[in-house]
Amino acid sequence: MHRLEGRNALITGASRGIGRAIACAYAAEGANLFLTATNAGKLEETRDLVSKHGVDAACHLADVSDSEAVEGLFAAAVDWRDGLDIVVNNAGIYIGKPFTDYDMAEFDRVMKVNVYAVFQLMQLTLRHMRERRSGKIVNIASTAGRWESPNQAAYNTSKHAVVGMTRCAALENAALGINVNAICPGFVETDMMGAFEGHARALGVSFEELIAGAKSRVPMGRFLEPEEIAHIAVYLGSGESDGMTGQAICISGGMRMG
Ligand SMILES: NC(=O)c1ccc[n+]([C@@H]2O[C@H](COP(=O)([O-])OP(=O)(O)OC[C@H]3O[C@@H](n4cnc5c(N)ncnc54)[C@H](OP(=O)(O)O)[C@@H]3O)[C@@H](O)[C@H]2O)c1
Repeated sequence: MHRLEGRNALITGASRGIGRAIACAYAAEGANLFLTATNAGKLEETRDLVSKHGVDAACHLADVSDSEAVEGLFAAAVDWRDGLDIVVNNAGIYIGKPFTDYDMAEFDRVMKVNVYAVFQLMQLTLRHMRERRSGKIVNIASTAGRWESPNQAAYNTSKHAVVGMTRCAALENAALGINVNAICPGFVETDMMGAFEGHARALGVSFEELIAGAKSRVPMGRFLEPEEIAHIAVYLGSGESDGMTGQAICISGGMRMG
């Protein structure tokens, strides 16, 4: 028996990286998928990949920093198969630079995508799931939502907010059959690594030196694969995690164990 058989899941940021890996893992476990991002070609590639598992999959383009687009996205996702069982808030952006160098437009952009969109989608999802008295919300936060890190204050602020809203929503809805949890990955091999260029510039090192330095801080000596995050997302979307809510689960190759 597949662990997500017949469940309907909405996944944001499904066009590549961790979101695509979660989509593939969910499809392999039998979930039907409503996939969203802004890049049509990449999103369709994900749909083609998941369709091989024989599940129903739909694509919907939406910029999650636009609140009207998020409303339209959620309404379409609910209509698609008459309700949602799982919502994965994965879309996110990274801007790396020293605290004093961010301009407010950059801070605002990170907040719109990483915080406002997640808050709005959680609110819409919780209203829907409270009526159904069941559901799973999986938020992709980061180890940056648990600890300090250099030259990424806006990103860390946004991910701390995701952990905070995960815990508050979990508490308010724990008795209603709704589980709300977050995954906090460390370094994962995705396109987001390219955005570390700004971080490298701020430190006055090359991109390659920054990556080597980052790897040396991981006790396992390597970055994670997106599929390793997807395994946890499957667990959190399935009935196996029914007794767990309000958690921010770190997967970091051993970085910061406490
Ligand atoms: N990679 C890491 O080391 C790492 C570590 C911890 C946490 N995370 C988190 O994991 C999540 C996925 O990151 P990733 O590493 O897979 O990054 P990625 O490869 O850069 O993918 C980001 C995804 O988010 C979507 N997205 C970005 N802005 C969007 C917007 N305004 N509207 C709609 N979709 C948008 C992108 O889709 P389009 O380009 O098609 O719009 C893409 O599918 C993020 O929340 C990130 O913060 C990543």
